Amino acid sequence: MPKHLILDAAIIATLVLPAATAATQEAIHYTPATHVFRIDTPAVTYAMGVNPAGELQAIYWGAPLAPADPIPTPVEPHELSGMETSTTITPYEYRAWGGLNFTEPAVKITFPDGNRDLVLHYVSHKIDRDGPGRDKLIITTKDISRDVFVDLIYTVDPATGVIGRSSVISNHTKEKLTIEQASSATWNLPHGTDYTLSYLTGRWAAEMQLQQQKIADGTTVLESRRGSTGQQNNPWFAITRLAPGASTPSPDEEFGEVWFGALAWSGSWRINVERNQVHDIRVTGGYNPFDFAYPLAPGGSLSTPVFYAGYSGHGIGEASRIFHRFQIANILPQRPTPRLRPVIYNSWEATEFAVDEPGQAALAEKAASIGVERFIMDDGWFGQRSSDHLGLGDWYVNKQKFPNGLKPLIDKVHALNMDFGLWVEPEMVNSNSDLYRAHPDWILNMTGRPRSEGRNQLMLNLARKDVRAYVFNFLDKILTDNDIAFLKWDYNRQWSEPGWPELGPDPEKQKTVYVEYIRNLYSILAELRAKHPKVEIQSCSSGGGRVDLGILGFTDEVWPSDNTDPFDRLSIQDGFTYAYTPQVMTAWVTDSPGSRPTGVTSTAYRFLVSMQGGLGVGSNLNHWTEADFATAKNLIAAYKTIRQTVQQGSLYRIISPRNGSEQSATESVSLDQRQAVLFVFLHTTSLNYPYPRVYLRGLDPAKQYRVTPIYGSLKKDTPETASGDYWMHHGLDPDLTGDFKAAAFKFEVQ
Ligand code: DGJ
Repeated sequence: MPKHLILDAAIIATLVLPAATAATQEAIHYTPATHVFRIDTPAVTYAMGVNPAGELQAIYWGAPLAPADPIPTPVEPHELSGMETSTTITPYEYRAWGGLNFTEPAVKITFPDGNRDLVLHYVSHKIDRDGPGRDKLIITTKDISRDVFVDLIYTVDPATGVIGRSSVISNHTKEKLTIEQASSATWNLPHGTDYTLSYLTGRWAAEMQLQQQKIADGTTVLESRRGSTGQQNNPWFAITRLAPGASTPSPDEEFGEVWFGALAWSGSWRINVERNQVHDIRVTGGYNPFDFAYPLAPGGSLSTPVFYAGYSGHGIGEASRIFHRFQIANILPQRPTPRLRPVIYNSWEATEFAVDEPGQAALAEKAASIGVERFIMDDGWFGQRSSDHLGLGDWYVNKQKFPNGLKPLIDKVHALNMDFGLWVEPEMVNSNSDLYRAHPDWILNMTGRPRSEGRNQLMLNLARKDVRAYVFNFLDKILTDNDIAFLKWDYNRQWSEPGWPELGPDPEKQKTVYVEYIRNLYSILAELRAKHPKVEIQSCSSGGGRVDLGILGFTDEVWPSDNTDPFDRLSIQDGFTYAYTPQVMTAWVTDSPGSRPTGVTSTAYRFLVSMQGGLGVGSNLNHWTEADFATAKNLIAAYKTIRQTVQQGSLYRIISPRNGSEQSATESVSLDQRQAVLFVFLHTTSLNYPYPRVYLRGLDPAKQYRVTPIYGSLKKDTPETASGDYWMHHGLDPDLTGDFKAAAFKFEVQ
């Protein structure tokens, strides 16, 4: 059996067992004699220790080591020469800017007397046992002379080996100091020259594009300076070690060692990937230091976001699966068993701002007839909102469009056996709105400077107490007054002129807006969820501009992109799944032709693309034919039989849609390996070549699986039933020719 299958089965075993038996071991250990800390899980060992100089030094991070394997006290490397002392190349666990440090510091502070030197030494530690294997380690470090303390916090998920790191910087001096840079963690990899960095870039309507580049000497900076996560870079990375002698990463997703991680933060962030002069690889991430300052009064402290990271010995495919499982069990608000995503209908692409009661009711009837479970009314229902130029901020129901309020529509939706969802964009305001006219001081701005608009709107300063109260109260009222199951929480511009004049002219104080805004955002979401526990929330930001592990702690799903062209969507979804679970990946079937003539992609093709995530429909159902309704009804019914596998199973990216590939394919396997689903897409046929043979992965080799088509067919000589080994090693041939064709098959244990 291939090795990756054995390990996958081991991870599955830990997931299907009750938590108490999954890991009865203590995961974090400290050996006083060597001053070494070890984190051990079935899939990962992580070790660091206190070196003779009193500083924390990384030792090992990778495949699990035997408990008895020697891990001695770390020693600083030999000096390269007097010109290059050992401290310049020591793999520090969390290094301040001070002393002889030239690598990216994790923390930088300026004191009122002008001193900017900070050198952190180990002071003490404690290990909290939060349940079987769920240990938390807090290491307290302190500057060599001043009462500045930095606590380094480590948590570990025993089932996946994903470690969470963050820090708390505390001022115990008698004077104010200013933090200028605050990272969550530095991750050290074994030194080497054979690494490839994967990361995700994009733009509006083209999010989550996978980039891969060899890591060379120097620094690659992944970041957002936009006040929020952003579409241009996502706060996720993966680093693959090349096979010996190889110059590019293995095209086989199941091969090779991979270190990966993501920041749980929805504000400006930065991840630096460095290779230094002796080929040490370090990844440092946290708050973006650009335009950043956080003054700390005596007794004050600042905590950083959590930077999660994991290790896979079996390729980037397994790295994704580990991270997907981690997110489902540890991050999402309904963790560890989030509800499956319902099939939704969303009105945006059908009606845009022209929503009204009869129009939405007619769409709801049609949506219900094909098996939709949740009807969501998008933008346009409130204030004077007839376009994106006005009304944002005025959260009262528009009486021309809904003369009797929202209740009649909501009742209608319920009578059709669906629940009701509503679009809101709480953090924004149009300058043409009652709210802005009443409170022009509530927005991010710098006194006397222009107030630049994006999508004709300005940003409310959510860091302000009064703005936070306004936003919470109007959302609370909407949810109290109406029977609403879901909020689509939109956010359609990035920050500019991010001043906070209310705090006075001190620029350092004003810069705390980068932290306080996001904290208030999270606290509003948390309070709303606590008060309205049945309400689910989607994070949308002009598509996928706010997808990160921070917002995913409070939202049940995300909207990956405003680009709903089904072919374009294949590469967006492909990139998305490198970092995030399909459980949160909403995908709509729409009328969008994208760059292709309308009609080139069939209704079934569109459905099969969207059925790889949380299925939704956004088409104008008033324009559908009888045949479209019949196809939709069949495929939605089929989706309901496979959605648990698709949303929460193990995803295998079988053929990538990237780099002009003529085909693409994904497979999802249920955690108990009793069901698998295969989606295959033919983008174009050139020179009449057959579709490549597809080899399934992750099945139980000895079990018999029966294949049934969800849509399309296999070549005639394909057996109906065969062993897992057969489907994985003999493979199967989809019967597809032409351009923009798709098929899907279900495999079930007999
Ligand atoms: C941007 C979102 O991504 C769309 O889905 C839609 O909700 C519009 N905003 C509404 O203004």
